[in-house]
Amino acid sequence: MEKNEIQEIFKTIISDISTGSNPGKVATYIPELGNVDPSKFGVALTDIDGNTITAGDATEKFSIQSIVKVLSLSMAYKLTKEALWERVGVEPSGDPFNSLIQLEIEKGIPRNPFINAGAIVICDVLISVLKNPKEEFIKFINNICGSDVQYSEQIAASEKSCAYTNIALINLMKSFGNIKNDIEEVMNLYFNLCSIEMTCAQLTRSFLYLSNDGFCPLNKRKIIEPNMSKRINAIMQLCGFYDEAGEFAFKVGLPGKSGVGGGIVVVCPHKFSMAVWSPKLNKKGNSYLGTKFLQAFTSKVDYSIF
Ligand code: DON
Repeated sequence: MEKNEIQEIFKTIISDISTGSNPGKVATYIPELGNVDPSKFGVALTDIDGNTITAGDATEKFSIQSIVKVLSLSMAYKLTKEALWERVGVEPSGDPFNSLIQLEIEKGIPRNPFINAGAIVICDVLISVLKNPKEEFIKFINNICGSDVQYSEQIAASEKSCAYTNIALINLMKSFGNIKNDIEEVMNLYFNLCSIEMTCAQLTRSFLYLSNDGFCPLNKRKIIEPNMSKRINAIMQLCGFYDEAGEFAFKVGLPGKSGVGGGIVVVCPHKFSMAVWSPKLNKKGNSYLGTKFLQAFTSKVDYSIF
């Protein structure tokens, strides 16, 4: 599809979806996230030839929150290979992203790496295998997308100030022996990872390796093995939207990952990666307009894995 054609489709969908009401709400349980302008809307698509098409606020940075969990999983999987799956599962949870319920029944092994408990275990793994996990992780992202991505100290501190549920999750896992390092050290890494700020355009570039069998076509580097890329896409498809994963697959038909900052990234294997940002979230914690946009886009262009 031509660049101009996609640009036109972006414009049409944005105007269609902005006429209806938006019942979503900006996340405020992390106080700093409540300061965002709720009317922001950005979208970007990068195809595997490296062409980027954008609309709206696509070059403005926002808090990527749980979207980072795909990148931290990639790094931990690359470093520890199949041993990783002894610490975290690959099943959809069907429960909210911060739920404690299954974790007790399943003896401290999180259902998947995208719920908060699973992403906390991934941070624990990174701390065990890396000398300077915080520095090495941000370098890993910057090497992939080739631009200036940073942590937000303000957002990390804001989340830390009221992370009662996440602290409960890590304590429960520690009691079952599934956290090997110091709780505070693991949580600090987790808060930092979630605090990363990126633009829609940067997100599409940093997810492009997952559209291309683990090989980044922009910097011509193998990020992960093709089989790992296949598996991470499968986990995104089944677990990327928590207790809304089925509905997202039904509406959009692409693997992806959301964050409570209002971002969503999706991957269309062998074609493109795409990111949308609209801060108001539906009741399941996923961007209301972002989902609507992606549903309209994949219906219009008939790009989906199904
Ligand atoms: O731990 C938390 O609650 C946040 N830092 C991340 C949650 C999140 O983004 C869930 N995704 N929709």
